[in-house]
Amino acid sequence: SNPDTIFVDGRSFQRDDMTTVTPKIISRVGQNLHNQKHHPLCLIKERITDFFYGAYLNRRGNPLFSVYDNISPVVTMQQNFDSLTTPKDHISRQKGDNYYINRDYMLRAHTSAHEHELVKAGLDAFLVTGDVYRRDEIDASHYPVFHQLEAVRLYTPHELFDKCDDKNLRLFESSPGCRTVEKQGQHTLEAVKLVEYELKNTLVSCMKHLFREDLESRWIEAEFPFTHPSWELEIKFQGEWLEVLGSGIMSHQLLDSAGAGDKIGYAFGVGLERLAMILYDIPDIRLFWSEDERFLSQFKVQDPTKVKFKPFSKYPPLIQDLSFWCPDEYTSNDFYDLVRTVAGDLVEQVSLVDEFQHPKTERTSRCYRIVYRSMEKTLTKEEAGDMHISIGRTAQERLGLEMRM
Ligand code: PHE
Repeated sequence: SNPDTIFVDGRSFQRDDMTTVTPKIISRVGQNLHNQKHHPLCLIKERITDFFYGAYLNRRGNPLFSVYDNISPVVTMQQNFDSLTTPKDHISRQKGDNYYINRDYMLRAHTSAHEHELVKAGLDAFLVTGDVYRRDEIDASHYPVFHQLEAVRLYTPHELFDKCDDKNLRLFESSPGCRTVEKQGQHTLEAVKLVEYELKNTLVSCMKHLFREDLESRWIEAEFPFTHPSWELEIKFQGEWLEVLGSGIMSHQLLDSAGAGDKIGYAFGVGLERLAMILYDIPDIRLFWSEDERFLSQFKVQDPTKVKFKPFSKYPPLIQDLSFWCPDEYTSNDFYDLVRTVAGDLVEQVSLVDEFQHPKTERTSRCYRIVYRSMEKTLTKEEAGDMHISIGRTAQERLGLEMRM
């Protein structure tokens, strides 16, 4: 195979002097954590989607927003930057901040990369969820791959001014004025204020739906090349303000070039990891990539809205089995409780691995597997062994089990 060829998402590309992707990063493409049933990122996506499905219906009673969560993260610079009217010299294009595949392609740095093409396809209300890539350090709160959910909502004059008595309201100035802090040159102030109200109201309601009714939030003025005016939403978590999304009134130039120059709209992009970390108490962003059942299984529950993540140990386990002849009235729960009492948090898991009845005596034998693991350190064989003996003895004394050697 040619070392100058890079394979990403089933396609091949020629490496060149723009290439910054690495094999480690490429291996993340296609994992689609946001589409894995029960994964916390998928749960967040579903809850936001549910909010939009429930809150916004069209005239026929169907969901207004259409949903896209399977668009390839391999995009052109045209999609990621130019289509969004990002200036050629804008800092967001820096080689040091992006995963370029080569001079023509990159891994999207935000889901906004799909705004233009979807508007051009004729959509006026949609959600896009996907993995996004930005070169960054790796620590508990930074990882070079994360997930965003993007929303776009466009309005015709009729839709926007529906509830207004004044029939002379318009989206656009008859002769475009200058861009000000408040608005783009083409828009009327009344149209901008109504869309701003819709946007802020929608997002705060959505966050309350995710978190709780008394959630504290605040809007901060922001700047993006493809929206004006723009805002970021911060929510209060454990006494601190955390930024969770960017948003704004969509660039008229962008809409016009996508064939929707007769409409006005808002867009926002929200980071799913941030929301999931806050909602489920997940302390480290790297956990989202864990294939450890001790992480994943915590979200496989009937009602995931109440999940609070319980940290698990990074130290190795020690595994030992115990077999007993059991009295008739005995149940396994008696043994599980006893193990908790004797060993406390040093036991991670107890499971019944074998059960059989002696053909003559009709006594039942059960074998339990005990996983010993500490949250604080690597347990020694002796420490686990002592604990194991002590569990066996106590089970004999208190539950009348007879140990099989
Ligand atoms: N794409 C922006 C980001 O990743 C967020 C954003 C989306 C801002 C849509 C405005 C409108 O930071």
